[in-house]
Amino acid sequence: MVNLAADVEAIAPALVEWRRDFHRHPELGYEERRTQQVVRQFLESLGIEVRTCGKTGLRGVLRGGRPGRTVALRADMDALPVAEIADHDYQSQNPGLMHACGHDGHMAILMGTARVLAARRDTLPGTVVFLFQPSEENPPGGAPLMIEEGALDGVDSIFGLHLWQPLPTGIVGLRAGASMAQADEFEVTVHGRGGHASQPNVTVDPVVVASHIVVAAQTIVSRFVNPLEPAVVSFTTIHGGRIHNIIPDTVTMTGTVRTLDLDIQRAIKQRLGEVCEATCRLFGATAEYKYDDGYPPVINDAASVELVARAAARELGADKVRTIAPVMGGEDFAYYLQRVPGAFAKLGAGDGRPYPHHNARFDIDEKVLPIGVRLMIAVALEMLEPK
Ligand code: NI
Repeated sequence: MVNLAADVEAIAPALVEWRRDFHRHPELGYEERRTQQVVRQFLESLGIEVRTCGKTGLRGVLRGGRPGRTVALRADMDALPVAEIADHDYQSQNPGLMHACGHDGHMAILMGTARVLAARRDTLPGTVVFLFQPSEENPPGGAPLMIEEGALDGVDSIFGLHLWQPLPTGIVGLRAGASMAQADEFEVTVHGRGGHASQPNVTVDPVVVASHIVVAAQTIVSRFVNPLEPAVVSFTTIHGGRIHNIIPDTVTMTGTVRTLDLDIQRAIKQRLGEVCEATCRLFGATAEYKYDDGYPPVINDAASVELVARAAARELGADKVRTIAPVMGGEDFAYYLQRVPGAFAKLGAGDGRPYPHHNARFDIDEKVLPIGVRLMIAVALEMLEPK
């Protein structure tokens, strides 16, 4: 495609406008009704076949003028329950909700991609499927429902990107194999026996037992998992008691486990349960242990990663492509990659933007938006008609 950069530059102001419109109107997972409506009308205006997929998601199909393979491109749509702190004029209009992860930018990029490709449909060698997916942030995620409702029907491979604050703007971060973690949640309730704080000897103090569990669990990663394997065990909430002079009956704790390997995930899940159970037994308490498996790890297909690297190097420059370390965050794009080959890339958007993802001051460098469109289009065309 000649002059891709010029075509995309021409819509750069629109990309910013679309992104800011989504930013002003954030919606949580499976509540993306306004978002869905905006995207649906836009795709329809381009003459793209579009249908509801995954409740508040959409599946658009652009058939090229020449026969060929089918590539799917995916953007996630949901915002987060974060109250934005902003000094710009596109601040969230929905109190307590914010696009604090960049999904507003993902949608703008995919809309720009659709617009440029739709204008060239006569020469397009195959089919492009646009997946606008709800509820990425909350397990079980929107991806499994999208797949159940036919998102991947006829699709040969799939690509997605995440705007990435830790990388400089325009850098394409890639990794073959396990590149994002399985992200699990757990809840531990310690049942003791409450009483007067002045007579701890006649109680079973769940605060003390819970504290021992937290400390003992620190040895799972440091003394149980092979040091060459990435793993995280974090306790993130502890709740128990109401007042200084009463030992409570129970303490409840929640947290997360992150792994890149299924065997290690299973081993940690079991070990953490044993730590809870054995520690409680030691002190005469009992443990209730619940564990929810989260999204599987994102496993990028090696050939697809090569394809993205080639396309990115050609369109954006070889100096823009980097191999990056795995990220211990979770991403439900993993489910698509269990069905069809593909790759999930990070696209740097961090220039002048010091606040991390999910922070109340998070923002992206909007200069990344046209770069994202060029990357998406270059990848789609490289997949449909390898050069
Ligand atoms: Ni995200």
